[in-house]
Amino acid sequence: MADGLRYGLIGCGGIARGHMAAYSHLFEMVACCDIYEPAALEFQRRFGFGRTYTDVRAMLENERLDFVTVCTSTTHDRLDIVLACAAAGVHPLVEKPMALTREQARQMVAACDEAGVKLAVSQQYRNFPHVKAAYDLLRSGTLGKPFLGELRMAHFAWFPLKGAKRSDYFVKFDKVMLLNGTVHHFDMLRFLLAAEPERLYTRAGQAPFRTAIGERGDTWGISTVDFPGCTFQVFNSTDCHGGEMQWDGWTHIECERGSIYLNPDADTPLKAYSADLKSWIFPDLPSRDEFRTVAWQTTVRQFTDWIAGGPEHPTSGRDNLGTLAMVFAAYDSAEQGAPLEVGSI
Ligand SMILES: NC(=O)c1ccc[n+]([C@@H]2O[C@H](COP(=O)([O-])OP(=O)(O)OC[C@H]3O[C@@H](n4cnc5c(N)ncnc54)[C@H](O)[C@@H]3O)[C@@H](O)[C@H]2O)c1
Repeated sequence: MADGLRYGLIGCGGIARGHMAAYSHLFEMVACCDIYEPAALEFQRRFGFGRTYTDVRAMLENERLDFVTVCTSTTHDRLDIVLACAAAGVHPLVEKPMALTREQARQMVAACDEAGVKLAVSQQYRNFPHVKAAYDLLRSGTLGKPFLGELRMAHFAWFPLKGAKRSDYFVKFDKVMLLNGTVHHFDMLRFLLAAEPERLYTRAGQAPFRTAIGERGDTWGISTVDFPGCTFQVFNSTDCHGGEMQWDGWTHIECERGSIYLNPDADTPLKAYSADLKSWIFPDLPSRDEFRTVAWQTTVRQFTDWIAGGPEHPTSGRDNLGTLAMVFAAYDSAEQGAPLEVGSI
């Protein structure tokens, strides 16, 4: 249904490569834009874009586009780009984090609503096959209601330590781990538990070896989050040798009559134990190699279906206000050293 849509890419960096590998063959690659021209030219060559730009407004004015993906780095003004899309009547699918402040998030959603433009956020963890299968298992009632859980993710450190190119949000911005990493896990929990959190308590800080290389943002965070009837611990750390990274997180959920274990790096990315059956359950899943492609393709398909008149995207800008409310409450909690109500944006 969506094929033939005219597509534009804004920000031709690291994560944009993942997007393009997953879905550049699905749409008409009209134009791409990066303030660093060689990056745009490389994307034109690799993914077949018709034209390149170094200025977002010039691209939006000169091209007839149906939708764009916004993959610019976090430090640059995502708000300005989303407002330009709204003014041009072009639907934006933006990378997480949607916004850097509550006020920016509110402004983006309001401007897109007013312009009749659809805004969604690439929180693709919800679309990982093992996460969707866990969601289905939880809804089926086979294991009873979830009451306790833990999610662990470790990453980030090996980029600077191995001298690789760093995205500038690691050095320029003072909000890093919770805003860029934990945002995925908070969103995944809202999805898995099909509920909004009531309160949370967060501790966050910076690993000493990150301070030493000029970074200033949080590189670890631990949150205890109360959902109705279910308490979750979310542990996000920075790993100094890079050998034990878990990019997509390891998750364990205890239910009334069983347990669920998710680990996309394991041979069985999802397994569950049923106390009633006294046996393990292994839902059918595609190959692990396909997880990322499936997640991004599903995310963009949900967006183009929404553009074509289908249901609102599960991680629309409006829905994402709930995830960002958790992130900003986590920063406030860490700063105040106290548990806080999550509230809304
Ligand atoms: N969804 C995920 O799993 C995931 C994973 C990693 C990163 N991300 C997010 O993706 C975003 C980009 O991260 P990255 O690692 O690709 O960064 P990056 O630095 O590798 O790439 C960003 C690119 O955007 C360009 N850019 C910056 N401002 C621009 C502007 N105003 N107009 C046009 N181009 C501009 C930069 O020149 C750069 O080429 C971040 O928000 C990050 O949080 C998401």
